[in-house]
Amino acid sequence: MMWGLLAAGGYSMFLGIKAKKVRTGTAEQRKALIPGKFAQRHYRWGSLLLAVMVTGMIGGMAVTYINNGKLFVGPHLLVGLVMTGMIAIAAALAPFMQQGNVIARKAHVGLNMGMLTLFLWQAFSGMEIVNKIWVNR
Ligand code: HEM
Ligand code: HEM
Repeated sequence: MMWGLLAAGGYSMFLGIKAKKVRTGTAEQRKALIPGKFAQRHYRWGSLLLAVMVTGMIGGMAVTYINNGKLFVGPHLLVGLVMTGMIAIAAALAPFMQQGNVIARKAHVGLNMGMLTLFLWQAFSGMEIVNKIWVNR
């Protein structure tokens, strides 16, 4: 599920970058890109990403607790919490971005690009946990 989510994150980034091109490109580029509805599609994929990430993080903690009777307060748990906070704040900036607020726009892109970078690392630490469960099964 999390590898699928990482792919969805990459796709959302692609759509966001296209949406920026629609906003800032030359008249010709804009004309060619507008039918792609990139901003709407980015918003839809972004919302899906947010919902599944919140569910996955809470679910990951629930499953870990049910299996072990405790949580392992380590990098995977902490980075997961930070990532979820970052994407939630970035999503909350959407209405302000749509009103043209430049600070909200910069913060949105910065938070989400940082979040995706953490996701790459989270996939590695996640696979370490998978390995551990596999070996100790
Ligand atoms: C993978 C995570 C994400 C990345 C990398 C990302 C990146 C971007 C980028 C590059 C833009 C264009 C900024 C510009 O025009 O200068 C953008 C716009 C936008 N993003 Fe995201 N975003 C992500 C997730 C989300 C989420 C979770 C939401 C909300 C649920 C969201 C909602 C929006 C909205 C509403 C816009 C403005 C579109 C417009 O009308 O021009 N994004 N994002
Ligand atoms: C490809 C990426 C990922 C893989 C392979 C992965 C894998 C795992 C595994 C195997 C567990 C342990 C479940 C159990 O004990 O049965 C876990 C726990 C957890 N995961 Fe992930 N994960 C990934 C990405 C993420 C992401 C993106 C988040 C949050 C945004 C996240 C948040 C958590 C949390 C909070 C826990 C509970 C940790 C604990 O209490 O030790 N994970 N993950």
